[in-house]
Amino acid sequence: MADAAVKELQEEIKRLAEEKNAVILAHYYQRPEVQEVAHFVGDSLELARRAAETDASVIVFCGVRFMCETAKIVSPSKKVLHPNPESGCPMADMVKPEDVKRLREQHPDAEFVAYVNTTAEVKALVDLCVTSANAPKLIKKLPAKKVVFLPDRALGSWIAKQVPEKEFVLWQGFCPPHYEFTYKELLKLKERYPDAPVAAHPECHPKVLEMADFVGSTSQILRYATSVKAPRVIVVTEVGLKYTLQKVNPNKEYVFPESMNYCGSVYCCSMKGITLEHVYETLKEEKNEVKLDEELIKKAERPLRRMLELS
Ligand code: 13P
Ligand code: SF4
Repeated sequence: MADAAVKELQEEIKRLAEEKNAVILAHYYQRPEVQEVAHFVGDSLELARRAAETDASVIVFCGVRFMCETAKIVSPSKKVLHPNPESGCPMADMVKPEDVKRLREQHPDAEFVAYVNTTAEVKALVDLCVTSANAPKLIKKLPAKKVVFLPDRALGSWIAKQVPEKEFVLWQGFCPPHYEFTYKELLKLKERYPDAPVAAHPECHPKVLEMADFVGSTSQILRYATSVKAPRVIVVTEVGLKYTLQKVNPNKEYVFPESMNYCGSVYCCSMKGITLEHVYETLKEEKNEVKLDEELIKKAERPLRRMLELS
């Protein structure tokens, strides 16, 4: 789309949002032109908070399905619209409710903690939800000694290192874009930029995390990378974050794995599955509403509220 057409569509989206008392929330991994129309851009924890606190009657959630479900669960009276219902998180689909039920039988003494990247059905069966921004802090507060963490094995083993006093059982799910980026690719980047510190998302492979100077959620990486003294930072997370990094501090260089070959990039097709046209159509027609069973909302709300209260 030509620049003028993009601007025109963005203006129309903003006008419609005002007319309909809608708030547009977007994750950092969204396309830049989508981030530009959002009232708020953030990490999954901040977006859940915004959804819980908003006065708007409609929430247009530019993110993957589990994020939209979370918004609906914490704000059930609001109309939550997902611009592309096909955009799901592959990692969230790696654990099913039957798996959680079976694990409950195997580990009756454990507390069950789900990464927010899970379906509403899985959330309904656990004791606490966490995001990468608050996981170690919240898990430390749990009374049980044993924790079953799902679905992300990379985040799980990173948390386990920081909470050595607890015993962890980890589900073997993973985020394909983050986990498949190898430490060998990172070594190549480090050879090219030896003075650049490395900031990585905890969904990355443990070998990549071992090489990182900073590990944190997307918002935490944003704060670190834009304020660290070095003029150049290697950032190992989805390339969508680059847009905000450059906006917040344009005086630094942010090196993303995208500069390598396709296999060496960290690119989430699901996050990028939402276009400006999707946002426009969805808002105009108020379509693609997220619908969840009332009983399911009540059950899934418990671990999410606990997370919001504890963090
Ligand atoms: P954040 O919680 O850091 O925003 O991460 C969400 C996510 O899906 C990362 O892949
Ligand atoms: Fe899911 Fe990974 Fe995409 Fe995040 S980046 S939405 S965890 S597939």
